[in-house]
Amino acid sequence: MCQTTAFKIVSVDGGAASGKSSTSRGVAAQLNLMHVDTGSHYRAVTLACIEAGLAPEAPLQAFLDSLELGTQTIGNSARICLNGALVEDSRLRTDAVNAAVSHFAALPQVREKVKQFQRAQAALARKESFAGLIMEGRDIGSVIFPDADLKLYLQADEATRAARRKEEGQNDAISKRDELDKARKTAPLTIPEGAIVINTGKHSLEEVIRLVVELYVGNPINPSDL
Ligand code: DC
Repeated sequence: MCQTTAFKIVSVDGGAASGKSSTSRGVAAQLNLMHVDTGSHYRAVTLACIEAGLAPEAPLQAFLDSLELGTQTIGNSARICLNGALVEDSRLRTDAVNAAVSHFAALPQVREKVKQFQRAQAALARKESFAGLIMEGRDIGSVIFPDADLKLYLQADEATRAARRKEEGQNDAISKRDELDKARKTAPLTIPEGAIVINTGKHSLEEVIRLVVELYVGNPINPSDL
C-alpha cells in the first residue's frame, strides 16, 4: 500500500455511470483514503422522503431538520446512516429512488443540509487516520471542496455508460438524470475549474486507477493518456 505524508482531498465529479465509484474505490484502497460517495447521500434523503410520503414539491424543511445523517466507515468506505441506522445499498438503488433522486437533489434546502454533512467528512477522515479523502459526486470540486488538492472530472460516451448500468442490472435513465443535474440552478453538474478531465471509456478501470494514483502522488503523466 502506498502512503504519502500530507492529508489530501481528491474531488471526483462526472455524470451517471462515468466511472466515479469504481475509480474512487480502487484509488481509496491503494492510497488508504476514505471514500465518500455523495450520490448515496442524495439517495438516502430521497429514500427517507419517499418512505415518509413526501414529494419534491411538498414543504420539506421540517422533515429535513428532523432527519439525522450519519457515517459508518466500513473498510475505506464512508457509508450513509439515517437516524442512526446504516442504510443498505440495495435500498438506495431501487427504480423509485433512481427516478426521484435528481428531483430531490435539485432542491436548495436538500443541498444545504447535505453540504454541511459532506464538508464534515474531511474531519472524520483525519480522525480515523486515513491518508486523505476521495469524494465523488456532481459538485465536489465546484462547491463542496473548491480548494481540493486534486480535482478530476470523469466522462464516457453514452453507449459505454448505458452498458455499465445494464451490466449492473439497473434500470436507470442516465441521460435524463444528467440533463436534470446539469440544468438545475443550485450546484449544477459542470467541469470544476482546474479539474483534469479523464475519458474512462478509453481505458480499462485498472488504467484509470493507475492514472489517478500517479496524479495523487505527483508523478507526471502523458496528456494523451487522459
Ligand atoms: O452518483 P449517483 O448516480 O448515485 O447520484 C444520484 C443523484 O444524486 C444524481 O443523479 C444527482 C445527485 N447528486 C448530486 O446532485 N450531487 C452530488 N454531489 C451527487 C449526486
